[in-house]
Amino acid sequence: MKCPRTRLPVGFGALAVSVLCWLYVFPVERLPDEKELVREVLQRGRAWSRNLSALQGFRKQLNDCCHPGHLFSVTKVNTPLGVNLWFDGEFLHSLIIENSTYSLFPQDTPFKLPLKRCSVVGNGGILKGSRCGKQIDEADFVIRCNLPPLTSGYTLDVGTKTQLVTVNPSIIEKRFQNLLWSRKSFVESLKVYKSSYVYLPAFSMRHGTEPSLRAYYTLADFSANQTVLFANPNFLRNVGKFWKNKGVHSKRLSTGLFMASAALSLCEEVTVYGFWPFQIDLKGSPIRHHYYDDVPPLSGFHSMPEEFLQLWLLHKSGILRVQLGQCTPEEPQ
Ligand SMILES: *[C@@H]1O[C@H](CO)[C@@H](O)[C@H](O)[C@H]1NC(C)=O
Ligand SMILES: *[C@@H]1O[C@H](CO)[C@@H](O)[C@H](O)[C@H]1NC(C)=O
Ligand SMILES: *[C@@H]1O[C@H](CO)[C@@H](O)[C@H](O)[C@H]1NC(C)=O
Repeated sequence: MKCPRTRLPVGFGALAVSVLCWLYVFPVERLPDEKELVREVLQRGRAWSRNLSALQGFRKQLNDCCHPGHLFSVTKVNTPLGVNLWFDGEFLHSLIIENSTYSLFPQDTPFKLPLKRCSVVGNGGILKGSRCGKQIDEADFVIRCNLPPLTSGYTLDVGTKTQLVTVNPSIIEKRFQNLLWSRKSFVESLKVYKSSYVYLPAFSMRHGTEPSLRAYYTLADFSANQTVLFANPNFLRNVGKFWKNKGVHSKRLSTGLFMASAALSLCEEVTVYGFWPFQIDLKGSPIRHHYYDDVPPLSGFHSMPEEFLQLWLLHKSGILRVQLGQCTPEEPQ
């Protein structure tokens, strides 16, 4: 790191630089702990109203930085034949788009924009027992993350409707042996998402490209009802920078925040569910990591509490709604 020269003693300069670096690396504001947040959430209660001018202002910021309507997925329009596409999750690696890959891209973003009411469903344990399924499914467009289970035991809490589901290449590797052996179980496990879009970050990491393309061919070969969209690495990179400027310090944003950001631009109204990265619910009782299991995410990769705080700020500004409590009041005893 280069430092400007001054006439101050060297030791003082070093001290000043290290303080500045510390302020840069660590957020200046202390993250509130989970008990404080629970108190704040309870104080606000269920009341929430949209602030249209705040929403429009935020949407303009997102559109200016990241052009979600145009760049959300890889299309023939935004990724021409022969272009050098840079991976967003790797340093200095790119891929030249040849005809074999290019021909898999849709002509243009396939949604009719704007989408109206959108539900973005994170997989947090807070959804368990929430009875939010009906409310989630009442939206026009439901986005779910990382192939979450939707079997009947969960329907009451998370619903079943899905217009878009994301799949990380690591899931293809771990759960479906990279689709190198039997591919049927992959096709079978996607049936629950009916005719949704399957959103694959195929161009984020080098080792994710092949499994993602295999997922495409598998669904095509089995004439599955789902349509694959590849995440555009330029979109993901820009959204990452956008949140970094707002103070989210992590190696990579979670899929959930990528999806909530896209939804804020693509949809007229956004409600997010299952975004609560803490270990207690609003009553202070311990909860599991996900609504379906208790496997913690890889540590040191995402910064979920920081991401949650940003969503909570948007909630307080009337830009999106963060649903945390039960969707239907509990039955009187
Ligand atoms: C709505 O948001 C705008 C812009 O952020 C702000 O100036 C205004 O006070 C907000 N209105 C209400 C009712 O909170
Ligand atoms: C590119 O691929 C498409 C679909 O596979 C094929 O129809 C077309 O002929 C190919 N074009 C070239 C120039 O190879
Ligand atoms: C596609 O959807 C139709 C109508 O819902 C259904 O009958 C069919 O079995 C589905 N096909 C596959 C491969 O899932």
